Amino acid sequence: MTKLAIMGAMEEEIQPLLSYFTDIKVTEFANNRYYEVKYNDLDIVVAYSKIGKVFSTLTAATMIEKFACDTLLFSGVAGGINPELKIGDLIVANKLCQHDLDITAFGHPNGFVPGGDVFVKTDEKLKNIALDVANENNIKIIEGTIATGDQFVANETRKSFIENTFKADALEMEGASVAVVCDALNVPCLILRAISDTADMDAGFNFDEFLDSSAKNSANFLIKIINKINSH
Ligand code: ADE
Repeated sequence: MTKLAIMGAMEEEIQPLLSYFTDIKVTEFANNRYYEVKYNDLDIVVAYSKIGKVFSTLTAATMIEKFACDTLLFSGVAGGINPELKIGDLIVANKLCQHDLDITAFGHPNGFVPGGDVFVKTDEKLKNIALDVANENNIKIIEGTIATGDQFVANETRKSFIENTFKADALEMEGASVAVVCDALNVPCLILRAISDTADMDAGFNFDEFLDSSAKNSANFLIKIINKINSH
C-alpha cells in the first residue's frame, strides 16, 4: 500500500491540503510537526518544512526514512520565468536544479558539484498523472524546469541569470533539494507549483498578495492527483 508524503514549505501551502482531511494524528519530530491521516485507501503524512533547501531536505528525508513514505508530492508556489506562466498558473517539474550552487571558480558549471548532476529528474509516471488530471479537468499546466535556491528572487538581473543559465521556467526555494533526496532514496516525487509572482521588482508585493490563492490552486490540483493515485 502506498504511503504518501505531502510536503509544502510554508504553512499557507499545506493548510488547504489539511482541510481535506479528518482524524489527523500529530507527531512532533526534529522541530517540526508531521500530520498523519488515512484518506480512502492511502496512508498520508503531511508536513511543511519551513523555507529553503536545508529545511526541505530535512523534512523530505524524515518523511521517507522515519515515516516510511514511498512516494512524495510537493505543493506550493513559485516565481514565474516563462512568460506563458501567469500568476495562479500551474507548473509541474520534469527536472530541477540548484541555481545558487556555485563552484565555478574550479571550472565546474553552475549548479554542479562532483558526485551530483546539474539537473535532477522527477518521476515520469507522477508527472504524467498530473498532465492527465489537467487535461481531464481542462486546467492549464506547463511542464518544465524549476530552479531552486536559498534566495527570494525579486530582480531582473538574477532572474535573467537563472533563465539563461538553466533555461528554467520557474524558480522557488525547495524543489531541487526535495528532488535530490527522493532521487538518492529511490522515492518517486512530484514537484507542483502555482505562480505567485514573476520574480521581478514587484515580486515581494505580488507574493504577499497571491501566496494564499496560488497555494490553494496548487493544493486543490494536488488533491485531484491524490484521488487519481488512490483510484489506480
Ligand atoms: N517562491 C515564490 N516566488 C518566489 C521568488 N520570487 N523567489 C524565490 N522563491 C519564490
